[in-house]
Amino acid sequence: MTQGPFLNVAVHASVHPAALAAELRDGVASGTVATRQLYISVRQARLWRAIAAAFSPARDDGDGGRAYERVNVHAATLLAGEPVHVIGLGCGDGAKERRLLDSLTQHGPLTATPVDVSLPLVLTAADLLGASAQLGRPVVCDLGLAASDLPTMVESAGGRRIVTLYGILPGLDAAPALAAAGALLRPGDLLAVSANLLPPDTGALERVTAQYDNAPTRRWLGALLDEAGIDAARCALRIEALEDPGAGAYAGVGAWLDPLEPFTAELEAGPVDLHPDCPVRVLRSARHTPTGLAAIVEATGLHVLAVEVSPSGEEGVLLAIR
Ligand SMILES: C[S@@+](CC[C@H](N)C(=O)[O-])C[C@H]1O[C@@H](n2cnc3c(N)ncnc32)[C@H](O)[C@@H]1O
Repeated sequence: MTQGPFLNVAVHASVHPAALAAELRDGVASGTVATRQLYISVRQARLWRAIAAAFSPARDDGDGGRAYERVNVHAATLLAGEPVHVIGLGCGDGAKERRLLDSLTQHGPLTATPVDVSLPLVLTAADLLGASAQLGRPVVCDLGLAASDLPTMVESAGGRRIVTLYGILPGLDAAPALAAAGALLRPGDLLAVSANLLPPDTGALERVTAQYDNAPTRRWLGALLDEAGIDAARCALRIEALEDPGAGAYAGVGAWLDPLEPFTAELEAGPVDLHPDCPVRVLRSARHTPTGLAAIVEATGLHVLAVEVSPSGEEGVLLAIR
């Protein structure tokens, strides 16, 4: 559906530049940078999209794409003929929600609302989703910090809701992500969640870790240093398996900034002293198991209808109902 020359977007206080700058400074100082800091700028968004296009199993129709397709067909069957409102939480460029909409074309009026912490990604998703559904007001917010405000920021639309949480659990703790989704779900609404899985074979973690150690991913992670104002020449970027993948996850891959010498980085929100003994984690990509994924969703009181696993065993997509 054609958009006019301007778009109304709801922007939550959690993503105001001062809040982001303070969080980045505190994260660098404490040794753990929030995942969202990797997606904020136009350049970061573009570099992430290139990685997703090149490496995401979800975009491989012979692999992850099949798991999403099965969930899309399942949801389409459950909601046959009804109007549907798709709300994409952490939607990125909206490619997965677009495929969901495309499988709902036999239904009543469709509405789609993109929600993400990144304004450039929300706008990209708005273009993509607005081409096949009525666009609900896009929302820019931090899912963890804005959960209680989401029901006000997301415009009402007719029909049952399908809330998606695609590709969010690798980087965000499950509890706040699911709380944000839960705030939008009414009885009979559906939740679709995807997660990166760790295949059960030996050597899987080493194989998966190696997938992150490539030039496009290093460029994307390096863009965070540029954004922050940290001199990349004074640091090394290390990518390896995580010891602590986070609550509910089974394993994971991380990336750390190792300062090569003591120096002070002049960040927007203030200076931070960096030291070789104090690495800074800039990426956490958690891996779940299908049963672990189902358990964290069931723990929120939802009823799990299906967990679809891709042929490679690296992508899982779950469908649940409230
Ligand atoms: C790995 S990408 C997945 C994007 C898309 N859903 C997909 O599966 O292709 C993670 C997305 O979560 C968003 N994100 C990260 N932290 C967030 C937060 N705290 N609140 C809202 N969105 C967040 C990022 O901007 C990014 O679009």
